Amino acid sequence: MSQIHEKSPKHCANKQSITFHKKFNKKLFFYFSTLLLSILSLIFLVWLILHPTKPQFSLKEAVINQLNLSGSSLLNSSIQITLQSNNPNKKVGIYYDEFLLYASYKGQKITPETSISPFYQEHDETNLISASLVGIQQPVALSFAYEVQRDQGIGKFVLNFKIMGRLRWKVGSWVSGRYRFIVNCITVMPFGPIPSPPLSSKQGSQCSTVI
Ligand SMILES: *[C@@H]1O[C@H](CO)[C@@H](O)[C@H](O)[C@H]1NC(C)=O
Ligand SMILES: *[C@@H]1O[C@H](CO)[C@@H](O)[C@H](O)[C@H]1NC(C)=O
Repeated sequence: MSQIHEKSPKHCANKQSITFHKKFNKKLFFYFSTLLLSILSLIFLVWLILHPTKPQFSLKEAVINQLNLSGSSLLNSSIQITLQSNNPNKKVGIYYDEFLLYASYKGQKITPETSISPFYQEHDETNLISASLVGIQQPVALSFAYEVQRDQGIGKFVLNFKIMGRLRWKVGSWVSGRYRFIVNCITVMPFGPIPSPPLSSKQGSQCSTVI
């Protein structure tokens, strides 16, 4: 007569279901963590194999059409630039979702940010990007006029162009998340005494890209 040993069949069932739940949870946890780990290592492997290289930018041409100061700290500027952009990857396309461009002189912004409309760059593709940077009454530091005069004395005008943007990589039909990128270009223009023709540079200077 052993039926009294367990207090009730209900209790027994509960006990069983609890251990079953525990086992099941453990299994589920194990299953999901293994799955997650495999997915992560697969992504990592694909990433390692394809390893996208940074896009390359170079400055093809820059022309300063206007750079006039009113008072001592309000600048009107008009700069035309042409950039070359290249995607060196063999299997990775690039979506440029955001592309903001501005000119800076001695560390200060001298034109507002100009936005280039989003575009897609196929692998191994090279594009030319032209933009007009126009600033009206842009506030600049009081030292601006002095710095320009000094550059004129030296005969060289050093200008930076900055790009700030966001891109996504495309591998096959998979598209990555967004990554910020920053590009910095430097150009040195010959700067003669007044009256001088518009400052321009045609030498193709390489830009640095940071992602
Ligand atoms: C602005 O600068 C250009 C040359 O860069 C000059 O020809 C023009 O006269 C200037 N305009 C004013 C209003 O100073
Ligand atoms: C700058 O542009 C504004 C607006 O077009 C104009 O009123 C001002 O005279 C310009 N200044 C210079 C120095 O050209």
